[in-house]
Amino acid sequence: MNQREKEAYLREYSILKAQGKPFFPYAVAKDSLMGLLVVVVIIVLSLLFGAQLGPKASGATTTYVPRPDWYFFFLFQLLRVIHPPGFLGVATIGIPTLGMILLFLLPFYDRSAERRIERRPIAVATLVFVVVAMALLTLRGAAAGSPTALTISAPAAVKAAGKGAVSEFYAGRAASSDVGCGACHTIGTAGNPGPGPALTHVGSRIPLAGIERTLVNPTAPMPSFKGLPPKELTAIATFISDLK
Ligand code: HEC
Repeated sequence: MNQREKEAYLREYSILKAQGKPFFPYAVAKDSLMGLLVVVVIIVLSLLFGAQLGPKASGATTTYVPRPDWYFFFLFQLLRVIHPPGFLGVATIGIPTLGMILLFLLPFYDRSAERRIERRPIAVATLVFVVVAMALLTLRGAAAGSPTALTISAPAAVKAAGKGAVSEFYAGRAASSDVGCGACHTIGTAGNPGPGPALTHVGSRIPLAGIERTLVNPTAPMPSFKGLPPKELTAIATFISDLK
């Protein structure tokens, strides 16, 4: 701002100030009325429609997949993008906190007097990046399945064995996702790192018959899957055996 602009601004400001109304009671009354209105609308909505609750919680379920409210989907998805357990803190606390600190310090490091958006390329680029990134993460988070859903793709040997083998692999993968092997095993980048060992290459150590035996007659705490339909059991064992 040069000297002339500054004088023009101060002149305009003093005129506006002379015409204006004091903050108290005018602005205070207006804000209070609006605040009251919002509270009344919320009370009326809650009386008319109530809060939406999910199905009644059961402590015995093992298949429930906890999901956050939609406005946390971006954070939820960020956790999946930044997958290694060592980076958990960075994804959940580090990145959002850094964003908040940068926003908080904005008036200290952006001292530019420019107001027009076309003259603030860095600010606009940052805004677009943050909005697009959060929107994409929210959309992908909304569409994401269970965190223990398996995502590993068919190894080269399976692909080489032809289309039938590949579709068998993916059928077995879907069955394994459904019964929740990922709750105790890592397979590829999906699943929990324990209590069971990683199964990503288990097929090179244990033959198919051995895997079938493990599924039917496992060592605790792994549950037995002998109650599954034989076709599904075979599909799972074949899939696991294909992981070489
Ligand atoms: C409740 C947790 C749990 C679930 C669910 C589970 N497992 Fe396991 N699994 C284990 C544990 C723990 C072991 C190691 C047992 C031991 O000490 O030998 C194991 C061992 C195995 C082994 C032998 C691995 C090795 O290196 O010797 C295979 C194969 C296996 N599981 C496959 C599966 C498959 C396939 C599923 C899904 C159909 C599954 N598991 C579901 C806990 C689980």
